[in-house]
Amino acid sequence: MSITITPIKPAIGAVIDGIDLSDIHEQEFDMIKQALLDYQVIFFRKQNLTPSKQVALAKGFGSLHIHPIFPHILDVPEIIVLDSHQTDLRDNELWHTDVTFSQTPPLGCVLHAIKVPEKGGDTLWASLSAAYDDLDDDTKAKLQSLNAVHDIRLSFPKERFGQTAKDIAKLEQIIKDNPSVIHPVIRTHPESGRQGLFVSEGFTSHIDGMEKNESRELLDKLFAHSIQDKFSLRWQWQAGDVAIWDNRITQHKALFDYGNAHRIMHRATVNGDVPYFKAD
Ligand code: SIN
Repeated sequence: MSITITPIKPAIGAVIDGIDLSDIHEQEFDMIKQALLDYQVIFFRKQNLTPSKQVALAKGFGSLHIHPIFPHILDVPEIIVLDSHQTDLRDNELWHTDVTFSQTPPLGCVLHAIKVPEKGGDTLWASLSAAYDDLDDDTKAKLQSLNAVHDIRLSFPKERFGQTAKDIAKLEQIIKDNPSVIHPVIRTHPESGRQGLFVSEGFTSHIDGMEKNESRELLDKLFAHSIQDKFSLRWQWQAGDVAIWDNRITQHKALFDYGNAHRIMHRATVNGDVPYFKAD
């Protein structure tokens, strides 16, 4: 079967057909890597990935991250389980770039849909480079000198993740182990060299060194700007779908609009490097 790449929107996304992700060849993998740089999030339908095959696929991009909070598959710590009947997933409904509370936020993720609701549960992705490119030159210049603070507590608040005394103690330790970090507001992609906004509602608390109201106003403006339809896409899941996204230049949001229906996703997260800004 021949391989086809069908772009979804001019700014972001493509569907790739004709690849079996459980049995991938070097040439196909090189093509996937290039497609990820070109389209920022790529989708594959009807995949049959066991957790160990998903680990093998994700490891093609680099070493894998172990999430401090989300539960994982027994004996496979690299695969986190996002199960709507087991974990409070409401915070994934905030637009976020994964794990930016780390000094080295992930390069990307491989998400496999195991069980999806009949209706709802779509995920949206937005291109942070398209959002940056669309800014006027004065705003770009102003943002290039700014840094922002990223805080794990915004997406993992005690009210949701600390039900028992044991949970609270565990969460407090995780927060202590992951103190807030500072990243540039504009991040240069280490491979493509493209500039992208690097702030998101899920983890960015404030602009470093800026007065509180001014910082809030600027961030709210950037958050609203970066999620416009022209920079984003919406994916309707089928069980067996796989999404791979470049976490260095996108943000996403998983809709929590399916009531008590059951939704299970398996995610492998690839470690990344320290974000930086380099002028064009
Ligand atoms: C995530 O936020 O990493 C998961 C997205 C999803 O469950 O669709």
